[in-house]
Amino acid sequence: MAKIISIHSFRGGTGKSNLTANLAATLALQGKRVGVIDTDIQSPGIHVLFGLDEARLSRSLNDYLWGTCRIEEAAHDMSEQLGAQRAAGGALFLIPSSIRAGEIARVLREGYDVGRLNDGFGELIRQLRLEHLLIDTHPGLNEETLLSMTISDLLLLVLRPDRQDFQGTAVAVEVARKLEVPNMYLVVNKAPPAYDAVAVRGQVESAYKVPVAAYIHQCDEMLQLGSAALFCLRYPNHPYTQQVGEIAAHITRVNGSGDLPQPRS
Ligand SMILES: Nc1ncnc2c1ncn2[C@@H]1O[C@H](COP(=O)(O)OP(=O)(O)OP(=O)(O)O)[C@@H](O)[C@H]1O
Ligand SMILES: [Mg+2]
Repeated sequence: MAKIISIHSFRGGTGKSNLTANLAATLALQGKRVGVIDTDIQSPGIHVLFGLDEARLSRSLNDYLWGTCRIEEAAHDMSEQLGAQRAAGGALFLIPSSIRAGEIARVLREGYDVGRLNDGFGELIRQLRLEHLLIDTHPGLNEETLLSMTISDLLLLVLRPDRQDFQGTAVAVEVARKLEVPNMYLVVNKAPPAYDAVAVRGQVESAYKVPVAAYIHQCDEMLQLGSAALFCLRYPNHPYTQQVGEIAAHITRVNGSGDLPQPRS
């Protein structure tokens, strides 16, 4: 049964796109059929982690939203990147958002039909026979974010141990509860090594009453990699990769609703 997973944070730069891409790669390596969709239409970036440059980014989510292609035609097969470690059946597809300035400006100027995005999620799962659809989002709350929360089987809220993030996360948790997201986890990322992991975990879990799925340290290797590749493939035994594995295990345990977003009549 397909599972829809949204990766969100109230504030920007928490590490959502890196986490989404690495989580998708981890699940695909385990033999799952995984789709990643970049709904950060205003400031897309996850395609960079998959090495997809502007020249190869032929069709994007924008084309689908403007009605010039079907959603599955905007899907780029990234499975080859996973190499020989990929378990049988594993596949990874990316639906990028356009990085062309004119196309970003057009979305901001004209907007788009959010209902069409909803239809696209369901259609992608059906056409590509996805087991997991991961949604990378724009920070803060906007229409796409609310939609992605509404249809998610599981929501990952990423936060740094930072007071601004703490306050913003409280808002995101409240909204997710109102939208009755069935499974919600926090991911603490970029934690300074000097912080006490047990204390911070306990602090956030008791503040939000939401379990922490992973606690990830700020690491130099990630900074040095600078989004040039998928971290978990480059550093398969690194603590970051292990924590991503923990989140993947949570995803595997959660039941999909089987309730795909339905096309509007
Ligand atoms: N655990 C970590 N340690 C060190 N650097 C990290 C870590 N996680 C992410 N980063 C770095 O933080 C930066 C932002 O990461 P990323 O683009 O994934 O965040 P984001 O939440 O998607 O940002 P935005 O809100 O702008 O979409 C990148 O340079 C990335 O390499
Ligand atoms: Mg991002």
